[in-house]
Amino acid sequence: MSDHPKVPRTPPRFSATFTPDTMAEIRRAAATGIYDIRGAGAKRKLPHFDDLLFLGASISRYPLEGYRETCGTDVILGSRFAKKPIHLKTPVTIAGMSFGSLSGAAKESLGRGASIAGTSTTTGDGGMTQEERGHSSVLVYQYLPSRYGMNPDDLRKADAIEVVIGQGAKPGGGGMLLGQKITPRVAKMRTLPEGIDQRSSSRHPDWTGPDDLAIKIAELREITDWEKPIYVKVGATRPYYDTALAVKAGADVVVLDGMQGGTAATQEVFIEHVGIPILAAIGPAVQALRDLNMHRKVQLIVSGGIRNGADVAKALALGADAVAIGTAALIALGDNDPIYEAEYQALGSTAGAYDDWHEGRDPAGITTQDPVLAARLDPVKAGRRLANFLSVMTMEAQVIARACGKSHLHNLEPEDLVALTVEAAAMAKVPLAGTDWIPGAGKY
Ligand SMILES: Cc1cc2nc3c(=O)[nH]c(=O)nc-3n(C[C@H](O)[C@H](O)[C@H](O)COP(=O)(O)O)c2cc1C
Repeated sequence: MSDHPKVPRTPPRFSATFTPDTMAEIRRAAATGIYDIRGAGAKRKLPHFDDLLFLGASISRYPLEGYRETCGTDVILGSRFAKKPIHLKTPVTIAGMSFGSLSGAAKESLGRGASIAGTSTTTGDGGMTQEERGHSSVLVYQYLPSRYGMNPDDLRKADAIEVVIGQGAKPGGGGMLLGQKITPRVAKMRTLPEGIDQRSSSRHPDWTGPDDLAIKIAELREITDWEKPIYVKVGATRPYYDTALAVKAGADVVVLDGMQGGTAATQEVFIEHVGIPILAAIGPAVQALRDLNMHRKVQLIVSGGIRNGADVAKALALGADAVAIGTAALIALGDNDPIYEAEYQALGSTAGAYDDWHEGRDPAGITTQDPVLAARLDPVKAGRRLANFLSVMTMEAQVIARACGKSHLHNLEPEDLVALTVEAAAMAKVPLAGTDWIPGAGKY
């Protein structure tokens, strides 16, 4: 028997590298031999708008009075070439989300909510539905690599065209729609067999480079008689060059989607490891526009994890003209609502974490094609909730702009911001709070 005094054992410790989550994923992969697919955006902590703060007015700047002095929120998109640019009351737009990933009821709800708030919705992979065209006063039609549901008549029915090169959640990759969601209607719209898993193309079939984008934009303008603004959407990876190339190709609007951006279904490894956060992408994109003397002439819409009016105000202060929201809009409609907790648990998840959108079993009736589940979503009430949320976001952005002494949201500027972390200061090119230090070197 040892005569050493008894010392307590070191408590069991998890590795910071092989965390319980990492080990669970290794076991899952070992058991199934297939990679994990899910919806939503990156879940790990990344530099974001929360790392920036506004400098409200004091002696050196004076604020505007909330009830007496106006602060404009409207935005015009597509003023470069289109005969009919789009005029929105708020710079918060609804991002492209496919019918197929979303139910018809969800599409109708988005249209209703956006129209009340005076903003636009966007179609998505799989084409235009009557639910959305019928209820969206301003509808942007996506022209995607997959060409699913692509139809020249629908192009002409839209108010703007968005050529999708990529998405923030999966730049360089295509989407997925599993067989469970390929109902007869979805299959017909996409010209696909029913019930069979499909993967959308990752690049346009008839392009090999930026010159082909210019040709495609010219073609789309001809089809739509030069009336509709042409947007070009890219996932954030090399935003300086992508923005410059989109402008050179003739885009009216550049849509830049950061890696926190949601998706309907993609490989987890893609969502968490490819692309850059929107905070890091806005500066280079704005710099490209400035270098081409196109800032505010070609509008910039940014997206990826935008949740409230502060995020909107920060994106605009960094130089964006508008933002787009996907995930936050779905939450406003009722996605992941705790009222369905028992059902989320039955699906092996919990309210707030449910992301198996590809399975089509969403209890809230949003990311499903099951008619019984979809019938749970009341488009009038859900649309009203979305309109309320859009109104709150707009008012919150206004509150901040007034506090910074700005009579329009577009008058916010980087000078109104400071960063809380060295990383955010370097990425957003604003000073670290309490200093005049902007870390990093180079143009962007
Ligand atoms: C359910 C769902 C479906 C989507 N479908 C498409 C699509 O068809 N085309 C596309 O360009 N982006 C699609 N996206 C991405 C959004 O357009 C947008 O880039 C992203 O949701 C913005 O980030 P946020 O969700 O954090 O707001 C989808 C996103 C979600 C959540």
